[in-house]
Amino acid sequence: MPKALPLLFIGNPALYQISEPIAQGEIASYRDTVDSMVHTLESLGERIGLAAPQVGIFKRLVIFKIPQRPHGRYKTQSQESVPLTVMINPTLTALSPEQEEGWEACISVPHMMGKVSRYTHIRYSFYDLEGAFHEREAVGFHARVVQHECDHLDGILYTMRIKDMTTLGLETEITAHHRVGTIA
Ligand code: NI
Repeated sequence: MPKALPLLFIGNPALYQISEPIAQGEIASYRDTVDSMVHTLESLGERIGLAAPQVGIFKRLVIFKIPQRPHGRYKTQSQESVPLTVMINPTLTALSPEQEEGWEACISVPHMMGKVSRYTHIRYSFYDLEGAFHEREAVGFHARVVQHECDHLDGILYTMRIKDMTTLGLETEITAHHRVGTIA
């Protein structure tokens, strides 16, 4: 039975460190950790992703899942859904210099939202729990989620990427006063 893992929140210095890669021969030993991360993510309601450092594990490991329709409190248009993906040692490259602004939230930054610029088109790669290598292309919201989650592995929270700090605020205020298109 997987257990919910304790979460780390903004201000905890541990969140700002660079996480270590997982050695190829150790991938299989992370199955229980991933099960607990999935359990933790699901116990938080309709959230999109969780990176290992957010639960105090400083390894390059991320899980995410993009539903067809995110939580109803956000005025989102329909978007590409992505099944639960476990990424070990992910890498990403921008396929275009183009960036776009979009709203983000984070389990480690409770009740808040902010507007962040992200690449619109990326290629990313990762290993799965079986040690198989995967490569994908992503655009739009999918690309945004991957960039947000991979940032956690380098000790970067979305709040650190906000250029216009007037866009950082309580979720209740932001959704009441802005047209909120996406959320990670
Ligand atoms: Ni986050």
